[in-house]
Amino acid sequence: MKYLTLILFLWVGSGCYYDHADLSYPQSNSSSGCNVASVTYSSSVAGILSASCYSCHGGSAAAGGGIQLDTYNSLKVYVSNGQLINSINHAGNIPAMPLNGPQLSACQIKTIQTWINNGSPNN
Ligand code: HEC
Repeated sequence: MKYLTLILFLWVGSGCYYDHADLSYPQSNSSSGCNVASVTYSSSVAGILSASCYSCHGGSAAAGGGIQLDTYNSLKVYVSNGQLINSINHAGNIPAMPLNGPQLSACQIKTIQTWINNGSPNN
């Protein structure tokens, strides 16, 4: 158990390192390999969700507990109630997403967070 905690600590710690690198060089997003300067719903967010979430939350998929995330309007519900960001951050008292899958990358999460911070426009 101690080792698990240590591994988790190192893993989370390395994530923080990249976050700090971004803060240190706010003018050069690209140098960190995660460019969020021109995030849009259609070109950035929908692609991430399509790859990792639509299999359960898209179309007529039955595996997503009836929750649909594959249209702007349906996604907006979970942006507004905070569950989209909590689910991918594995935060809050809701199931971690993608269910039974690896967490989205730090850059993917940052991309979605940036879109939300921008007011989650339908662009
Ligand atoms: C393997 C299927 C599966 C995948 C893949 C998946 N989900 Fe889910 N998701 C579920 C199920 C099932 C629920 C309902 C869980 C519950 O209510 O107990 C759910 C619930 C949710 C909820 C609502 C949480 C709540 O408690 O109300 C959100 C938001 C969500 N998922 C987002 C995502 C996102 C974002 C992704 C992709 C990064 C994703 N899911 C990928 C199966 C999946």
